[in-house]
Amino acid sequence: MSLADWTTQAPWTGTRASLRESTGLDPAAYIDPDFFDLEQARVFERGWVVVGTAPEVVESGRLLVRRVGQRSVLITRDTDGALRGFLNACRHRGTEIAEGDCTIGGTIRCPYHRWGYGLDGTLTAAPMFEDVPRTEFDKHDHGLVPVRVETWGVLLFACLDPDTPALLDWLGDLPQRMEGYRLDEWRIQEEASLEIEANWKLISENYQEYYHVPWVHPELAKVSRVKDHYRYQGAGMYCGQTTTPVSGDDRDDWLVLPPADGLDPSDAVSGRFVALFPNVLLSLLPNHAFVIRLDPVNPGLTAEQCTFLVPPSTPEMTTDDMTATREFWFDVNNEDVDICQRSQRGLTRGRVGAGPLAPRFEEPLHRFHNMLADCMTADSLSSLAVPQGDDGSSESRLGTSINPNPPTIEMEP
Ligand code: FES
Ligand SMILES: [Fe+2]
Repeated sequence: MSLADWTTQAPWTGTRASLRESTGLDPAAYIDPDFFDLEQARVFERGWVVVGTAPEVVESGRLLVRRVGQRSVLITRDTDGALRGFLNACRHRGTEIAEGDCTIGGTIRCPYHRWGYGLDGTLTAAPMFEDVPRTEFDKHDHGLVPVRVETWGVLLFACLDPDTPALLDWLGDLPQRMEGYRLDEWRIQEEASLEIEANWKLISENYQEYYHVPWVHPELAKVSRVKDHYRYQGAGMYCGQTTTPVSGDDRDDWLVLPPADGLDPSDAVSGRFVALFPNVLLSLLPNHAFVIRLDPVNPGLTAEQCTFLVPPSTPEMTTDDMTATREFWFDVNNEDVDICQRSQRGLTRGRVGAGPLAPRFEEPLHRFHNMLADCMTADSLSSLAVPQGDDGSSESRLGTSINPNPPTIEMEP
């Protein structure tokens, strides 16, 4: 189906146009298996991909098994506390070492012929291998293949490509912008997972724009007014918006939890909504966070891993204490899931060409599509230009400074 060569600039004309002339992506980007495979190789197997949360790998000897693109990666913590990542393949005859998350103690062991590796990846055991010695065999030459792994806040990242810029370059100003939350201290309150019959990009795009809020989320729109949304965009591989002030509502649901201690005046009254390229959607409220990780399964299917986090100042809570917050998010999320699945069906069965983006509301999609085009067309990400943020002329949109001051709160009559 796909005749375009997506590694060249030609099919990206609508994306490379200026915002006011730009169009969305061709339907092939959402439904074509060839596009999907290329995207897995060029984006997910080269970029910094979120594969979990930092608390999952606090203990030495806990072994995580995560997909990165079409590859499988092992992540653990060494006895000295260092985070380690490896390809999930034995250096003897290439066997998958672990099938799923597990606790292994001090040795990563292949089930086939019991080769053993230390938590730093060094080959430590090759049973009976030297009964008849090989001409040359040095265990140091056969350690597990390392993979870059890092954490930022509560997020755990992996990157398969040694040439890709460092994680801190990829994140741009986000660590500085979100410094006041001290996210590395937040704890996981609960998790949920679901599968969505839609391309991963549709879910991210839907998250990035609030154009749809009045019609897809009529209840939410009563308290999260379009006029309270602003850009929250600096340099970095992300698309951000903020709701300032974030409102309470009749049901007292998303603000029912106690506020985090120590937030500055801006963070304390705002909701921050960041789509970090490519696969995490980070919603930070003054009292909790809701994190969605997107794992593409195929062009029309995405696994979504949802994690609720609370700040350290929040007392221990029961599952019931989270009911109102959970229901709020899942009510909104279900509305988003329905419309994304409907988009997928329309793209699959209609295949109409890409339409115009609304400059007022869909600028983040333009930015997102350009990041995608940058990764898809680059021979190497070593010279990837991390997009810049707004310049001073966009001050009225609140997005220019690291931590914009909230506007005066209008009292409803
Ligand atoms: S393939 Fe792993 S020990 Fe033989
Ligand atoms: Fe939505």
